Amino acid sequence: MTGAFPALRMRRLRRTETMRRMVRETALSPSDFIYPYFVTPGRGARQPVSSMPGVSQLSVDEVVADARELANRGIPAVLLFGLPESKDEFGSDAYARDGIVQVAIRELKEHCPGLIVIADLCLCEYTSHGHCGIVEDGQVRNDATLELLNKTALAQAEAGADIIAPSDMMDGRVGSIRKALDEKGYSEAGIMAYSAKFASGFYGPFREAADSTPQFGDRRSYQMDSGNAREAMREIELDINEGADFMMVKPALAYLDLIRMARDRFDLPLVAYNVSGEYAMVKAAAANGWLDEERVTMEILTGIKRAGADMIISYHAPDVCRWMGA
Ligand code: PBG
Repeated sequence: MTGAFPALRMRRLRRTETMRRMVRETALSPSDFIYPYFVTPGRGARQPVSSMPGVSQLSVDEVVADARELANRGIPAVLLFGLPESKDEFGSDAYARDGIVQVAIRELKEHCPGLIVIADLCLCEYTSHGHCGIVEDGQVRNDATLELLNKTALAQAEAGADIIAPSDMMDGRVGSIRKALDEKGYSEAGIMAYSAKFASGFYGPFREAADSTPQFGDRRSYQMDSGNAREAMREIELDINEGADFMMVKPALAYLDLIRMARDRFDLPLVAYNVSGEYAMVKAAAANGWLDEERVTMEILTGIKRAGADMIISYHAPDVCRWMGA
């Protein structure tokens, strides 16, 4: 029986804030979030990223201090990107034992032992050409790149990363990394696959933050075309078959339908990446007084969770904690 007006009145349950809170189906909590850091060389360094107000490139000591505070507020995990001292054709710093991210992982595991440390795995911040793999004759080579991804994953796991998050979009990388990790005894390191990652204009500010703009061409030969939903499900299914522990949809806002589709089809924990451009849009509008920042941020993030995300990677995480009094 569904009832009908006037006996049925939907507004009864919206009458007071307590009533609304009681019947709310989706509510955010600090434990929903993963916070990204851009790690730079040096000490005491905080270099603001102009297109991402509130976000800075931080040296390892600053990351540790900041992460400790976030952990106290209830954020369970951080995601690390590195800005190496120098870049080369093969992205050597990505897999160096003392590479910037490996150093950060060690320090975080020592000083914030409860915090989950996720290492982004990609070569684009480390290669001189800015592509996510080895370039030969102007092409990004898939299988040769897998070797370097394996090396990088091993360096990250050796440093103590809890989770490796490949964001390169090479074919076969999840299986390749899983095998490499297991062979060297890192069977406990998890894999958070950037499964459905689209070639997106929303990564613009990130490329300033991570200094990873491709020096020629674009990433369309490896990242997905934004029109493709069925292909996204195939990508996720492949990653699951290759041994992924988490699946991801990225970006989030223009791909909410895929978050829902993935949630309905697959049972892995689902991560949504609320990317740099999504963050920058809100910050810019709020700075102009055009939008109420807290209100629209909470609405966007609630929407991503309601669409089916279990975890959200978001630069808004510290603001959210503050707004929630955490
Ligand atoms: C690296 C990588 C990118 C992002 C995460 N990992 C950039 C890209 O693929 O060009 C984007 C994240 C963001 O925009 O916040 N491959």
